[in-house]
Amino acid sequence: MKTILTKSPTKAAEFIRRGGIVAFPTETVYGLGANVFDEKAVAKIFEAKMRPADNPLIAHVGNLEQIKLLAREITPNAQKFIEAFFPAPLTLVLPKSENVPLIATANLDTIGVRMPQSDLAREFLRHCETPVVAPSANLSGKPSPTDWQAVFEDLNGRIDCILQGEATEIGLESTVVDCTSDVPLVLRSGAISLEELQKIVPETQLYQVKENEIIRSPGLKHRHYSPKARVILINRKSQIANRKSQAFIGLNKPKEKFELIKICASVEEYAHEVFAFFRRCDHAGIETIYCEIVEEKGIGLALTDRLRRASEG
Ligand code: TXA
Ligand code: MG
Repeated sequence: MKTILTKSPTKAAEFIRRGGIVAFPTETVYGLGANVFDEKAVAKIFEAKMRPADNPLIAHVGNLEQIKLLAREITPNAQKFIEAFFPAPLTLVLPKSENVPLIATANLDTIGVRMPQSDLAREFLRHCETPVVAPSANLSGKPSPTDWQAVFEDLNGRIDCILQGEATEIGLESTVVDCTSDVPLVLRSGAISLEELQKIVPETQLYQVKENEIIRSPGLKHRHYSPKARVILINRKSQIANRKSQAFIGLNKPKEKFELIKICASVEEYAHEVFAFFRRCDHAGIETIYCEIVEEKGIGLALTDRLRRASEG
């Protein structure tokens, strides 16, 4: 398959309307989209990414009206979050409408819905004239793509089109909140922080997997965000053995020498850079990446979550 590169959201949307799959930028990471109501097109996403079939997709809308096409019910808490935040790096899990094919939600009776903040994303979605399901546009298990070049690296020849936008603003995936019960549960942390959600619905909690419980967000159990290199989390006091092919990313300049090093001025910049840095390390043949841990508040919670997952990968 030849992958077309374009800067035109109308041209990219044409491919969606004809049953194709298209990578497009959002404010979080690049997504790989298909018409949610076209089962064959949705199946192509799983194939192109080599994504396990039990991992559900997020549906993206260009306007609030489209949420009604996806959800059987907009629960009162979801309504509050929509009014407070949308468009935002926030995904709300709602009871699914029966029109949505089960392949999109991996057989779940719920669907994740998100209206992206990125203007280019919403312009593209409006031209698609349908909600678009889109996971991150990387090969399954690899770091999420934060620029179109990373999408190209993973998916060139496997998808119809890449809509070329800027590098993404946030760099980590959206916050996912299950709104199907009275207590909203944060299934995945992101740029919309727990603190901000609790200002709108104070009962909101972080979802903790209990032993023997069926996992609510199947994606949580899959390997994620991993570079080829080994990822080791450290703090300012950690001792680092001086070896070859080592890299460092964090907020404070370490005294040791590294082949690749990225010092970030803020936690936001760290979140923005981390996935691109992982890919850069892989290109350079780095064997070990040391990542400085950060305070687990605001986007620092989401960053810590991604770093932990990468270190377990
Ligand atoms: O920022 C983002 O969310 C990006 C951009 C493209 O929008 N998308 C993204 O999609 O990160 P993906 O597929 O890589 O991650 C979706 C996460 C997975 O952990 C999945 O299990 C969870 O959301 N999820 C999706 N639908 C769900 C549902 N109905 N119930 C529970 N979890 C769900
Ligand atoms: Mg992903």
